[in-house]
Amino acid sequence: MPDKEEVLIQEQQEAISRIAAREDRPLSYYIVTYGCQMNVRDSETLAGMLQNMGMKEAGDRRTADFVLFNTCCVRENAERRALGNVTWLKEIRKENPNLLIAVCGCMIQEPGMAEKIIRQYPFIDLAFGTHNLPRFPMLMEKLLNSRRRVIEVSDQTRMDIYEGQPVVRQSPHEAFITIMYGCNNFCSYCIVPYVRGREVSRESSHIIKEAEELAASGVKDITLLGQNVNSYGLDRPGELRFHELLAFLDSIGIERIRFMTSHPKDISDELIDVMGKAKHVCHALHLPVQHGSNRVLHDMNRRYTREHYLDRVHKLRTAVPDIALSTDIIVGYPGETREEFEETLSLVREVRYASAFTFIYSPRVGTPAARMPKTVSKEEATARIEELIALQKSITAETLQGMVGETHRVLFTEQSRRNSAQFAGKNDYNITVNADADESVIGRILPVRITAAKETTLQGIILE
Ligand code: 5AD
Ligand code: SF4
Repeated sequence: MPDKEEVLIQEQQEAISRIAAREDRPLSYYIVTYGCQMNVRDSETLAGMLQNMGMKEAGDRRTADFVLFNTCCVRENAERRALGNVTWLKEIRKENPNLLIAVCGCMIQEPGMAEKIIRQYPFIDLAFGTHNLPRFPMLMEKLLNSRRRVIEVSDQTRMDIYEGQPVVRQSPHEAFITIMYGCNNFCSYCIVPYVRGREVSRESSHIIKEAEELAASGVKDITLLGQNVNSYGLDRPGELRFHELLAFLDSIGIERIRFMTSHPKDISDELIDVMGKAKHVCHALHLPVQHGSNRVLHDMNRRYTREHYLDRVHKLRTAVPDIALSTDIIVGYPGETREEFEETLSLVREVRYASAFTFIYSPRVGTPAARMPKTVSKEEATARIEELIALQKSITAETLQGMVGETHRVLFTEQSRRNSAQFAGKNDYNITVNADADESVIGRILPVRITAAKETTLQGIILE
């Protein structure tokens, strides 16, 4: 008997072939992606499905036959921006009446959103949640056949994993590999566990095969993705632990390996040990701290203390002395006092991150924090985030200045945006480096002597 996975893949392929056979001219598509790298990777699968349906990527959303918004709902402004852009597209339909508008991803999975779309956004033709992504070809066929709106949102809490999905990768040099889906942590402010469901890991053999194929195709830099990669494998009895997977991938011939996101409570000594010994694991780690006060961390349900976090940072820096740390920080969490905010500032001074993503707390309906009274005004939260950004800016500037004179290995991937005589790429620390070069450097890792630091990027001279 074929299993559930085989049945779905078969259904998918049949729907894809029927769509590919039906249109006399190839339809064009345009995907707009919001949010995190997981969404970027999901969009690569959606693009793979669309191209297998015979569709071509459109250069502009205004001229496309089918526009798909892959949305994020982690903060209110991400959601507002997506809905604003979807609504704007409605106007385009006046000139392009055959345009089909689709919305998928985390926002659709939010409780109540499907009903909201039915009532308030009648011009959306197709909407499906994160768990329904593998059914996209079937939903698309239904839409094309009926020309009536199709909405499908699954309420299951554990996502089914289907291997062997189509994919059109955005870069031939760098690639994302999703190693697990979902999150079990339920930080009090965060909507992700509600929209992405519980943690489900892919089988390590599939991950390793994907990485080997990417290496064979010339990809030099892979990023392993998951909401909390440190708990990889825990949902699969007998599976490799994350540090074991990382150690294995270090040996398969990929030049560079990164991973994100790591939860500070789950960064194990074994993982730090692997990071210290590995040859291809980059010396960069994204370690979201969220806050510097133990009272707030406890309230956020982060399940570590400031002291534990600093201990992990100390151990990481002992094992990997030049590691570049980055983080996420929330300001204006309900109840945050001025003194507590200052604890965030002092932690930032102590850790000296290479970079930080800073956010004003945004209440998300359905999360415990959204039920707490908001005590920090918008003005106060804005003043606090500005103070934090100014501090981080000065630390970033000092960190980058400290790199001048060093030699970094840079994977060149594109022409510089500001100066066409220059090419740009990332160093091991995940910092962009620009250097005078020509197109022949693209896709190569080259030694670059750092000559100057800009606000968030470096300037250098290629040594070969
Ligand atoms: N408000 C503000 N920031 C949030 N984040 C997650 N949820 C919220 C929220 N409700 C931030 C966290 C997380 C990052 C991806 O987004 O810092 O690490
Ligand atoms: Fe959200 Fe916390 Fe899970 Fe990260 S670890 S996705 S912040 S619930």
